[in-house]
Amino acid sequence: MRKGPLYWILFILIADCSAHAAGDENRIPALIPAPNKIEIHNGHFAITSRTVLLAEGEALPAARLLNHWLGLSGLDTLPIRSVSSPRTPFVAFSINSDTAEAYSLRIKPGSITLSGSVSGLLRGTSTLFQLLVSASGGKIPCLGIQDQPKFAYRGVHLDVCRHFMPKEFVLRYIDILALHKMNTFHWHLTEDQGWRIEIRRYPELTRKGAWRQGSMIGPYRDQRFDSIPHGGFYTQEEIREVVRYAQDRGITVIPEIEMPGHAMAALAAYPQYSCTGRVTEVARGWGVFDDVFCVNDSTFAFLEGVLTEVMELFPSRYIHIGGDECPKTRWKECPKCQATMKANGLRDEHELQSHFIRRIERFLNGAGRQIIGWDEILEGGLAPNATVMSWRGTEGGIAAARDSHQVVMTPGSHCYFDHYQGERNTEPLAIGGYTPLEKVYAYRPIPAELNANEARYIVGAQANVWTEYMYDTKQVEYMLLPRLCAFSEVLWTDTSLHNLNDFYSRLTPYQQVLKGWGLNYSTTWLLPDYRIEPGTRPGTLMFSLQSKVPQQLESAWGTPDTKPVFSSYTGPIALESNGTLYIRSNTSGTVKTQSFEFEFSKAAGATVTLEPEGDKAYRNPGSVLTDARIGSLPWTGKQWVGWLGKEPTITLDLGRSVRIDSVAITYLHDPVSWIHAPRACTASVDTRETRVETGIPANGIGRIVIPVDESIDKLFITVESIGKNPEGNAGAGEDGWIFISEIQVY
Ligand code: ACM
Ligand code: ZN
Repeated sequence: MRKGPLYWILFILIADCSAHAAGDENRIPALIPAPNKIEIHNGHFAITSRTVLLAEGEALPAARLLNHWLGLSGLDTLPIRSVSSPRTPFVAFSINSDTAEAYSLRIKPGSITLSGSVSGLLRGTSTLFQLLVSASGGKIPCLGIQDQPKFAYRGVHLDVCRHFMPKEFVLRYIDILALHKMNTFHWHLTEDQGWRIEIRRYPELTRKGAWRQGSMIGPYRDQRFDSIPHGGFYTQEEIREVVRYAQDRGITVIPEIEMPGHAMAALAAYPQYSCTGRVTEVARGWGVFDDVFCVNDSTFAFLEGVLTEVMELFPSRYIHIGGDECPKTRWKECPKCQATMKANGLRDEHELQSHFIRRIERFLNGAGRQIIGWDEILEGGLAPNATVMSWRGTEGGIAAARDSHQVVMTPGSHCYFDHYQGERNTEPLAIGGYTPLEKVYAYRPIPAELNANEARYIVGAQANVWTEYMYDTKQVEYMLLPRLCAFSEVLWTDTSLHNLNDFYSRLTPYQQVLKGWGLNYSTTWLLPDYRIEPGTRPGTLMFSLQSKVPQQLESAWGTPDTKPVFSSYTGPIALESNGTLYIRSNTSGTVKTQSFEFEFSKAAGATVTLEPEGDKAYRNPGSVLTDARIGSLPWTGKQWVGWLGKEPTITLDLGRSVRIDSVAITYLHDPVSWIHAPRACTASVDTRETRVETGIPANGIGRIVIPVDESIDKLFITVESIGKNPEGNAGAGEDGWIFISEIQVY
């Protein structure tokens, strides 16, 4: 039996009389994401062995979820009682008619009341759980929270194909999502490197397609492989369990079945659906492969069979059909594909891709579902009802929103959690990029280019976790957390309430919540920010630190001949000779050490002008070229300047006249990543020019040394590129990159 509102009001009033004086529990608790409205009152609720959870009917899943999470933290669960048997102290879960995911939470000295719709209660449970586990001495401050999400779509993706993740971990992942009030789990189930979902009609998909005979080891540019079979798949029973588990946490699971590209595993199992009929092996390396689904009726019949079983397993409105990175190479030469183009009056292979997606959309729409796909589904014309996931930047999302299509923003720059979250020498191998915690926190899903009407089509955003370089579940946790904490606040909390320093100050204690579940979260963000600036004299540098949270800092200087001895960091450090600077931070017992190697030349601290500036993610200030630090591998976003399809001119102003005999330019040569050594560099002093060709570069970091026997105060360096990526190389015929990390003069 449900009690009426009067009953509750009376009950709460009585309970209120036992209020105690407030202590330091008056502080705003460390909740993530921050609630949209919170008021802290005097007094506290004390959890004791007598505390009960009052819940019945539709409110039961929330109460059970709270207990499940308490159990995961190694804490005692609380008995669940029916609403008709209240006694203090209690935590009541109450269904109301609020919209969607809104909830309210009232904490009084003798009672806690959480109200909301079914999904609202689940979101509120995350708040309540965070309060319970961080309650000091079992005391939770009295407060009132009124909360609702900023964005309707709050997603996290997981690639279980590059590295298979066991079902138990997928369940844990869903708990992590729910803890952060996310509502969508995008399960990337098929790829070149493995097919992970049992399809009863086509048993070869998992018998053969779920296994590869080896994997790429180390960085992509090394192209090294082991021969250890890797694989695994989820049975239909396991998939049903995952979907139910997610439902109980208010999370929709969207399955992704990749087509027409990224299909090597399916084609190895059923080569008859490739253009050549000759695909034999599940891919071992990462990348984009020319073999894709052949566009003809038998392929459609096959895929419709697959999707029919997928729809039986997943009740989601959306089915993700991939659509990304589909080379047109095979289609151009395939008689079957060319016949499909002719029969349908299609002018080129982009229209064939569009035809493919539209046909799949018709099938899924006919079954009452909607398609969602990566932004390449815009190529050749968007399918009429499709939702677009904008990953190659924001352009695809902008175009789709202007075309009145729903959009989920997931640009690589901010939402790809496979990117590095710190500098290379602090981090395990990752795919590349540089997306530290503060960059995620600064993300705004609505592109500034959209007007208010167009912006309505941006339903939310998603973080993607591609696992090429995540070999196990611990590594996934490390890459996900705490970036998901920042991301959840981006999507849940109104932008007017965002404050990076406040977020940092909540994240420090919040780590205990993550620790309670035994999660392998990253603490890289605790490293202090550093600046390297010109020193007081030309040719010297000044190194300074700035903490994000209260912490002790120490520094030490080491050379091959001197051992580092740490002492307290008290302010900027002057640097003028080669060696290694060590920085040690201690944040409430979490100790981290960083090292910075310096290789000085007369150019250290020189003013650098770049014409043009670097491109996109590699547009760093010119000062990184004279900070006496040679870039490391794989490149991260901070140490290198990169130019795409351009030939930069670099101007060095040494600030005084200096006698020199040479200039050294440090570059990167990494052809598989479309980065090529310059063809040559020219140093110009007044009207005298000296040009030096690179010759045949080795892979990795290289140097061009130009003899310049002059007294100079200014120097111009022009960098010549080799032009487009050469034939036989990755991205042949497309613009390539030039990467420079340091200019030195001797
Ligand atoms: C993607 O990252 N290929 C969608
Ligand atoms: Zn074909």
